[in-house]
Amino acid sequence: MGVVCFGYLLAHSCLLSSALAAVVSTLTSSPLFLLAAAAVVVISGLIVLFLALRGAAKQRQADRLRDRRRAKSTPIQPAKSQWGQPAKGQRSQPAINLRDAALWEAPQPPAARARWSQDQWDQPPLEQVPPRPSSGGLLPGTQLQRRYRIERALAAGGMGAVYQAYDLNLLHPCAVKEMLERFTSDEERQQGLTWFKREARMLLNLQHAAIPRIFDSFTEQDRHYLVMDLIEGRTLADVLKQEGQPRGLPEGRVRRWAIQLCGVLSYLHGQQPPVIFRDLKPQNIMVTGRDEIKLIDFGIARAFQEGTGTLVMTPGYAPLEQVGGNPEPRSDLYALGATLYQLLTLRNPRENKPTIFDFAPLSHLRPDISQEFAAILFKAVQREPRDRWASAAEMGHALQQIERRAGN
Ligand SMILES: Nc1ncnc2c1ncn2[C@@H]1O[C@H](COP(=O)(O)OP(=O)(O)OP(=O)(O)O)[C@@H](O)[C@H]1O
Ligand SMILES: [Mg+2]
Repeated sequence: MGVVCFGYLLAHSCLLSSALAAVVSTLTSSPLFLLAAAAVVVISGLIVLFLALRGAAKQRQADRLRDRRRAKSTPIQPAKSQWGQPAKGQRSQPAINLRDAALWEAPQPPAARARWSQDQWDQPPLEQVPPRPSSGGLLPGTQLQRRYRIERALAAGGMGAVYQAYDLNLLHPCAVKEMLERFTSDEERQQGLTWFKREARMLLNLQHAAIPRIFDSFTEQDRHYLVMDLIEGRTLADVLKQEGQPRGLPEGRVRRWAIQLCGVLSYLHGQQPPVIFRDLKPQNIMVTGRDEIKLIDFGIARAFQEGTGTLVMTPGYAPLEQVGGNPEPRSDLYALGATLYQLLTLRNPRENKPTIFDFAPLSHLRPDISQEFAAILFKAVQREPRDRWASAAEMGHALQQIERRAGN
């Protein structure tokens, strides 16, 4: 830049001096001065041209460098196959960086977006950010009811999320389950909300060591929440995945879980009216570090799906009568049997052949399992409810007998 200024000054002074020489040559009538003036004009013209060309070349080089640096600092144009074609009438998406990618996935309303505070932008890159539901999740630091401070997402799905939170009133950690609505009419919404309130009230009254206590429920910004004990543990599905290779979990451990599960089912079925869990499966059972069982997910979230919660079930774990719309306490025993089969064999009951209701004899898949234990499970998964155990208490009693024998 300095060189360019100096050049322009030089050219300027040359022009001035040539004008002076022209004046002197006119006054003295000497052609020598006129020649000198012409030479100075030509030289200064050349200097100006040279400097202009050099300045333009430098500018081009600087532009190229800046572009290269920008390209390195991550603005990534998402590949069309990854993000989908822009919808008709929608402008194509601008270049974004990876951290914005999660926001692109699900456009959020302005209010929800405003929940991203500045320090959230300084969070670790996307791979380390907890999963967020497609509807847009709550951020760490968000307060609900001015009482529950969200700490992190534990799980997220299309229907909502479960968060680890901190109760600022009672000063202890808790879990907050968020549920989103999927109603298609006002009538459905009314029905769903009534169902939610009734179920929440029912859960508030349950007291059992294997059931996380629900101690609050509320609705905020069209999202519905349950606040409950935080369980420090893993789902049985995770335990199976992590420790079940190559052919399933050990009999003794599964049997001790089965006894606990019979205990909690017996408690639920003993309520007036009986509480049928309806969706027992490895994903809905957690186990703590001390191998204590906890039942999660009482299906209350289904109140917010179309219709009401009558369709709570998972194929493979739900017996025929439940699929037909008539669940009863023994339906839970079938689901318990299916769950225990899976923990021992790694096989999802959905893959049962010839139909999902046909369980192969355990001795084929796990010859090391004791005959008594196999017989207890086989009785639990009978098609007809009358051929199963009469109650969870009866099944639990049979399991305890083997447990005692195994302990001797
Ligand atoms: N009380 C809790 N403490 C700790 N983690 C929990 C608790 N409740 C749920 N979770 C975690 O959240 C996950 C999902 O919970 P849950 O099964 O209740 O919801 P879901 O199956 O996603 O929802 P839906 O009610 O729609 O079936 C669980 O697998 C578990 O990892
Ligand atoms: Mg679940």
